[in-house]
Amino acid sequence: MNITPSNGLNGTVCVQGDKSISHRAIMFGALSDGVCNISHFLMSDDCLATIDCFRKMGVEIEACDETVRVQGVGINGLKAPISPLYTGNSGTTTRLLCGLLAAQNFNSSINGDESIQTRPMARVATPLKLMGADIELTNENFCPIEIHGTELYGIDYTLPVASAQLKSALILAGLYANGKMVITEQRESRNHTEHMLKNLGANIEINRNKITVEKTEKISSFDLDVPGDISSAAFFIVAGLIVPNSEIILKNVGINKTRAGVIDLLIKMGGDITITNRDASLEPTCDLIVKSSKLKAIDICGDIIPNVIDELPILAVAASFAEGKTNIRDASELRHKESDRISAMCTELKKGRIDVVETPDGMIINGGEAFGGDFISYNDHRIAMAMTIFALAAKTPSSLSGEDAVSISYPNFFNDLNSLRG
Ligand code: S3P
Repeated sequence: MNITPSNGLNGTVCVQGDKSISHRAIMFGALSDGVCNISHFLMSDDCLATIDCFRKMGVEIEACDETVRVQGVGINGLKAPISPLYTGNSGTTTRLLCGLLAAQNFNSSINGDESIQTRPMARVATPLKLMGADIELTNENFCPIEIHGTELYGIDYTLPVASAQLKSALILAGLYANGKMVITEQRESRNHTEHMLKNLGANIEINRNKITVEKTEKISSFDLDVPGDISSAAFFIVAGLIVPNSEIILKNVGINKTRAGVIDLLIKMGGDITITNRDASLEPTCDLIVKSSKLKAIDICGDIIPNVIDELPILAVAASFAEGKTNIRDASELRHKESDRISAMCTELKKGRIDVVETPDGMIINGGEAFGGDFISYNDHRIAMAMTIFALAAKTPSSLSGEDAVSISYPNFFNDLNSLRG
């Protein structure tokens, strides 16, 4: 597709539902003891993969537009899948299922697309094996995965990587394990799993960076309105800041404290972002008003990295338009996402004549004049959206190939964007 630079983005967008929460709503709904009604559910390829996997395990799920009804089968009610589980491009589905399936009284196998087959799975299998799980990975680290369901035992485990997918897999396994499961985080990652499950009656205690999980017999059914995905909103926040003459209102954006770092960083960069209509539910939301701003470089590193891990590609775009050198460090995890996002972003930003240096765990971006280029998505939804926003603010026209990847997390992305272009 061709992208012409924009001379102003104006209007209101209600971004689609949060991907992480939508996955968990299906999973926890399936394990619950009754009917769950979920609204503003994210109907994207990743979340549809989760629905498909649970249907294969005997869970009735009706999905229409953004509304989903899950008929919970109870925590011990899943059935052996009728065929191998296919998780597509979804790391969250793949890794959380490993924890859940390791504890079932049936065998299962999991596979996904080409990208999933290159993503590390030993990080999940290793602690699960310490719990007694019987899991076989391909070449000891990859999908396809064979799981022989068995009895598990709680362990005391410190997460070697800040990963909510790993943490969540262990919490799910812990719900079935004999004895206490204690998980310690060295850096805080998104906390949806522990908070949602605790709220639904699971035996979970959260004490600072320690989560204790014990055998759970019942998860209550629930109704849930999924907040807008801050990771999707981030593309429009940055668009509003870097495209001149812009003013964008983003409605109903989730601002869970383990996810909202992108707002803090962009404000620190000088972004004109106003937070209004805060709501203080378990998953808090707000509206955001964003206006074109002159940005300045900052350092992005340390404890905030897990909080903004999915926003680093679009933060790299913001840095390209900021005055000075932005240093992104401590982010080697980015190399293990849907693509190697460090290498992908450095390659694409260079095409746009940005001065960027790739480092093992990040990049150094010296903001300056940005030009259009022939960009590619690496079949990675967040690279596709980040480079679209870059192209809108560049001085000359661009092309983008592989733009269909946006359907992984934000199928309405281009419609919402066009509505702001008038
Ligand atoms: C997610 C956790 C993060 C994130 C992904 C969604 C989740 O992955 O990048 O998009 O829903 O738990 P990691 O746990 O691998 O950091």
